[in-house]
Amino acid sequence: MRSLSVVSGLVSLRVRQAIFTFVSLFVFVLITSTCSSPRPTASPAPAQQLWGDMKAVVSVKELMRDFIDPASDYVFDAIGLRISMKGEVATSPKTDADWEKLRQGGVMLAEGAYLLKVPRPFAPDGDVNNSTGPDPAELSPTQIQAKLEADPVLWNAKVEALRNVGLEVLEIVKRKDANELWDAAGNLDQACESCHVAYWYPGEGALMKRLDQKLEDLYGAKGDRTKTPGADPK
Ligand code: HEC
Repeated sequence: MRSLSVVSGLVSLRVRQAIFTFVSLFVFVLITSTCSSPRPTASPAPAQQLWGDMKAVVSVKELMRDFIDPASDYVFDAIGLRISMKGEVATSPKTDADWEKLRQGGVMLAEGAYLLKVPRPFAPDGDVNNSTGPDPAELSPTQIQAKLEADPVLWNAKVEALRNVGLEVLEIVKRKDANELWDAAGNLDQACESCHVAYWYPGEGALMKRLDQKLEDLYGAKGDRTKTPGADPK
């Protein structure tokens, strides 16, 4: 009897050990699986979501005319060269009010750029741009739309580039570094033009290259077509 109870004691010890091992293994697996792999239900990041839908009010063309273009003038108008009897005088922001205006422009550009991510028509109904006749200067809204749909990543890159100049302006305002504004105005001009050449009047890029080549052939040097920042985009 005694030897039997020893055997049963041994058996139950084995069983208990086995149960213990099994349970600890289970706990271990549970811990590692919850720690190492993200639970599929916890995936949406709420910070990335909008509070609600965004709806466009105007076309891209009108947004340009009534928002993006006036916003850019806060930057372009902040600096410049005035020619007077005494010679050239560079103007730049000086007073707190000057810097405040520039900050407003920076905020409008940095925030406003993302309005170009909201789907909207490119031009008002019935407006086909300067896209008819021989050798049209502009693409039609339908052609622009097709270009965007073929490569939305490029459109978004142009939007981000515009936003980045807005952020650059805000940094400059923080440091009140008027000298850097010249660079920022150049970058802004570039951000506008590079999107326009890609989507609005792609023929112009090729035309300008041909013009440069002609000037180089004629005068043996690169033609000086440097644009005044803020000049009308067309
Ligand atoms: C992401 C692309 C993009 C960027 C960046 C962009 N534009 Fe435009 N813009 C367009 C497109 C596309 C049109 C033409 C829309 C149409 O007419 O169908 C346009 C048209 C315009 C027009 C013509 C409006 C009219 O009434 O005819 C102006 C002015 C303009 N843009 C100014 C600017 C300025 C200034 C900037 C930079 C501060 C800028 N845009 C940046 C895409 C862009």
